[in-house]
Amino acid sequence: MNNKYAVVTGASSGLGLEFAKLLAKKGYNLVLVARRTERLDALKQDILKAYPLDIHVVPLDLSDGNASQKLLDYTQQNKLAVSVLINNAGFGTSGDFLSLPLEKTVEMLQLNITTLTQLTYLFGNEMKKNKEGYILQVSSVGAFQPAPSFAAYSATKSYVMLFGEALDFELKGTGVSVTTLYPGATKTEFFEASNTKVNKNVERMLMTAEEVADMGLTAMFNRKRSIVPGFTNKLSTLLVQLLPRKLSTYIAANVMK
Ligand SMILES: NC(=O)c1ccc[n+]([C@@H]2O[C@H](COP(=O)([O-])OP(=O)(O)OC[C@H]3O[C@@H](n4cnc5c(N)ncnc54)[C@H](OP(=O)(O)O)[C@@H]3O)[C@@H](O)[C@H]2O)c1
Repeated sequence: MNNKYAVVTGASSGLGLEFAKLLAKKGYNLVLVARRTERLDALKQDILKAYPLDIHVVPLDLSDGNASQKLLDYTQQNKLAVSVLINNAGFGTSGDFLSLPLEKTVEMLQLNITTLTQLTYLFGNEMKKNKEGYILQVSSVGAFQPAPSFAAYSATKSYVMLFGEALDFELKGTGVSVTTLYPGATKTEFFEASNTKVNKNVERMLMTAEEVADMGLTAMFNRKRSIVPGFTNKLSTLLVQLLPRKLSTYIAANVMK
């Protein structure tokens, strides 16, 4: 068995589950993290049927401020050489910001921003010491413009965009790269988790989680700074950057209606 380990956060469903399967196919041992342990155990058994890998299930609530340190401690105590970090766990709150429970928004900020930053710091430093590492940050096409109804969520993804791309620049020459992935609407449990009804506009644009994860990993292993999967998503993010922000906000509000 090789000694290459990949940490995948949010591996119990959607993109995370697909990242885990694809990394297993590439021969990576895995550290699977999320809250739903039964889902992670089922994924582990599934992968083990096909590949003889070392797979660790680490049930953690990553919106807990100590979770990142606990995860690093777990990998160090078990002597797992982590060279891939997939910062994927995340969720969105949808609706009018002022009518959403504030605790839910704060939990989202902790998970989508603070934990992602802490994990990048802790595992990034280990990778830098070993002069080898790949980090994938999962942002969203929502990062490129204000998104009414997803105001705070899309802002968390703008943070991921600016943080990830700047960090990749900083890390040049260290052997560690940071790739930021910008999925558009993708068929996962995301919409259910954020209490959003998928309308016809969004349904038409849905990509599969496997396609998006595959494009994300390919870009990451090629050490690309960013990747927007799918032609429609690429085109829309390019156009949005050319429009006055007032207009892109208006369009985003209407796409989500
Ligand atoms: N689907 C889309 O259209 C879309 C578009 C753009 C960006 N994204 C981004 O893609 C990423 C993956 O989402 P997805 O689409 O695959 O949705 P998903 O199917 O709902 O998966 C979300 C994953 O995050 C985990 N998670 C949520 N809260 C957590 C917590 N407190 N602690 C630990 N793990 C937690 C969930 O696991 P547990 O519930 O088991 O903890 C689950 O594995 C997210 O960052 C999302 O913002 C999705």
